[in-house]
Amino acid sequence: MVGSGAREHALVRALLSTGVEVACAPGNVGISQDALTYPVDALDGSAVAVLAVDLGADLVVIGPEAPLVAGVADAVRAAGIACFGPSAEAARLEGSKAFAKEVMAAAGVPTARPIVCVSVDAAAAALDELGAPYVVKDDGLAAGKGVVVTEDREEALAHAAACFESGHPVVIEEYLDGPEVSLFAITDGVTVVPLQPAQDFKRVGDGDTGPNTGGMGAYSPLPWAPADLVDETMRTVLQPTIDEMRRRGTPFRGLLYAGLALTSRGLRVVEFNARFGDPETQVVLARLESPLVDLLMGSATGTLADVAPPIWSDGAAVTVVVAAEGYPESPVAGGVIEGLADADALDGVDVLHAGTRAEGDDIVASGGRVLSVVGRGATLTEARGRAYAGVDLIRLPGSHHRRDIAQPHSV
Ligand code: AMP
Ligand code: GLY
Repeated sequence: MVGSGAREHALVRALLSTGVEVACAPGNVGISQDALTYPVDALDGSAVAVLAVDLGADLVVIGPEAPLVAGVADAVRAAGIACFGPSAEAARLEGSKAFAKEVMAAAGVPTARPIVCVSVDAAAAALDELGAPYVVKDDGLAAGKGVVVTEDREEALAHAAACFESGHPVVIEEYLDGPEVSLFAITDGVTVVPLQPAQDFKRVGDGDTGPNTGGMGAYSPLPWAPADLVDETMRTVLQPTIDEMRRRGTPFRGLLYAGLALTSRGLRVVEFNARFGDPETQVVLARLESPLVDLLMGSATGTLADVAPPIWSDGAAVTVVVAAEGYPESPVAGGVIEGLADADALDGVDVLHAGTRAEGDDIVASGGRVLSVVGRGATLTEARGRAYAGVDLIRLPGSHHRRDIAQPHSV
């Protein structure tokens, strides 16, 4: 496993639960309590490939987007080891919003109409053409923070100008109304297997206030979602995109994450990601009852058509992210975390680590999103109660979390 977040911790635990032997690079403190970890730079493809060869790994699973965009999956495959995760070329579906829009247009996938701009004048004209609310996106990886959605034309233009200054084009696009859903699909480039829909809470504050973050919580299932959501997304989004990538000679193998808006005019793609979402993975995997490794191996070896469809629990899962003081603007590192073992010991609770490191005998915060506390239950109400019971046992000075994840009014 390559990566160091709560998503990777959830993947590690899901693999361990069916008896798979797992090692992680670089991991974090929580992962190191469950599996061997190695201090290898996730972005260094040759170092990852050398470690995988040394360990005699049968499969390398790449968690985050940055190594994928940097070609780490290509380096692992070149070393003769099966790899879950797309090539650098295919990962452009996430790495470049302009490229993703081009593929969607070619595949006939419904999405917000985009205008790609490289100058402030062009950006101003695009804002006026599309009107408010304005949606301005950095055309590069920005860890969920490159998008500004605002009624304020000045703010929209300032974000575009900042992107141009850092050398990136921007995508300005039509505003999509309606609730958002994350739907993941595992694919070997031909066969596509959808997982269960989840919802992410992107804004930092209760009631969807404050700036966008990497994600402050998630839940699954979505009781309010239309019954045909997965079928429609397969037919109009996932399969056409995978077919178009193959047609271009850059097949996409790994996990295709469709960020969807269920708008008043129908389903639209907000964004694609080329990897499991964080924190949605924590709740989706909490409901998976069949072996994850079969799906990952089927994707990596081009044999997904032969893998039995995943089996899902009827129950629910909720995760709440505990973030460091100052997240997302300027997270404060170094705070000592207490209560981890007590929370993890609760029935139906998993404490997954993200930004943590060991300092002597202490576990301290080392990133913006510090922990992802998962509650499982027969119903969303029970799962939410358990997640918050876990969160309430954890102490980290200055930390914050949302209190309204999966609450009935927001569900
Ligand atoms: P992205 O990085 O493209 O997923 O954007 C981050 C967040 O910004 C999304 O999850 C949405 O909440 C919001 N967003 C992005 N694009 C749009 C859009 N066209 N209309 C409304 N909100 C959007
Ligand atoms: N939760 C949003 C993402 O993983 O991009």
